[in-house]
Amino acid sequence: MSMYGRSRVKVPASTANLGPGFDTLGMALSLYAWIEMEEAAETVFHLYGDEMTGVARDKSNLLYRVAQMVFAEAGVTIPELSITMYSEIPLTRGLGSSASAIVGGMAAANAMIGSPLDNAKLFDMATALEKHPDNVGASLFGGMITAVWDGKHADYIRIEPPQELEVLVVIPEFELSTAKARGVLPDKITVSDAVHNISRTSLLTAALAAGRLDLIGRAMQDRLHQPYRAPLVPGMEKLLAEAPKHGALGIALSGAGPTLLCMVDRRESRKQELELFLVETMQEHGIPARTCWLSPCIAGVTTELLARNGMQSESFLDMIKGERKS
Ligand code: HSE
Repeated sequence: MSMYGRSRVKVPASTANLGPGFDTLGMALSLYAWIEMEEAAETVFHLYGDEMTGVARDKSNLLYRVAQMVFAEAGVTIPELSITMYSEIPLTRGLGSSASAIVGGMAAANAMIGSPLDNAKLFDMATALEKHPDNVGASLFGGMITAVWDGKHADYIRIEPPQELEVLVVIPEFELSTAKARGVLPDKITVSDAVHNISRTSLLTAALAAGRLDLIGRAMQDRLHQPYRAPLVPGMEKLLAEAPKHGALGIALSGAGPTLLCMVDRRESRKQELELFLVETMQEHGIPARTCWLSPCIAGVTTELLARNGMQSESFLDMIKGERKS
């Protein structure tokens, strides 16, 4: 009988950059993955949901690998694991699915062994793997985060998003890898572009902290990555330029894309018009896409330690049935 418990975590998706805050700003979103982890005689995976098709079911699996990093850091040896996961976070679309898996896997492994590592440690470990702190920070801490990574340690501040803020994402039906979207960025930028982005990032962070929705549109302007990435996402240029005319407070590429994200005032009356504009613009450019209304997720990753009673996988799905989107 194992001396370790069975852990369950719920981890939110996230959006990174929010326009100008490249590799710095992140916000957790109300789209989730659930993970259960426990020691087993032999490593086994139960992966559910459309998003899990094609995900590795052996020890090369990301959840398994990050769990082993946590165990090594904590000085424990648990080579065989039973890992169960259901995810509604689309893969390779700019909604932080890999950051959610890293944070969720680390949190599940840590909870299983009695949480010897604190969140600051998990944040450093997760960022070392992702290389930038924006998505992992948001999934770990929830709300909105502004973070700095020095190559070893991440400093951050968590900001409570304004209650009036709602998010509309348009998710195109094609994948775009972060590596490809980073590959098109220039090595050098001008001082005026740097000043443009520093000032907008600062204004956006302060505007969100102060609940100044009126400043969001002007503060979400970017010259560091979006102009270079626009050719990779048909319709993006028009969406960035015109979404504010259809009811968006501001619009940005979500992380490395191809999803675009609008910030919307909950009280906005043109929500349907905005949805139609996003989908039709993508269609005009030959790209099928779907929209999804989300909220900033206030909580970050949450963990529970459960009794090890050999619960069947059905009860895992039952457990999350009321919460998941489909
Ligand atoms: N900040 C990153 C980027 C997010 O835009 O490339 C993607 O993980």
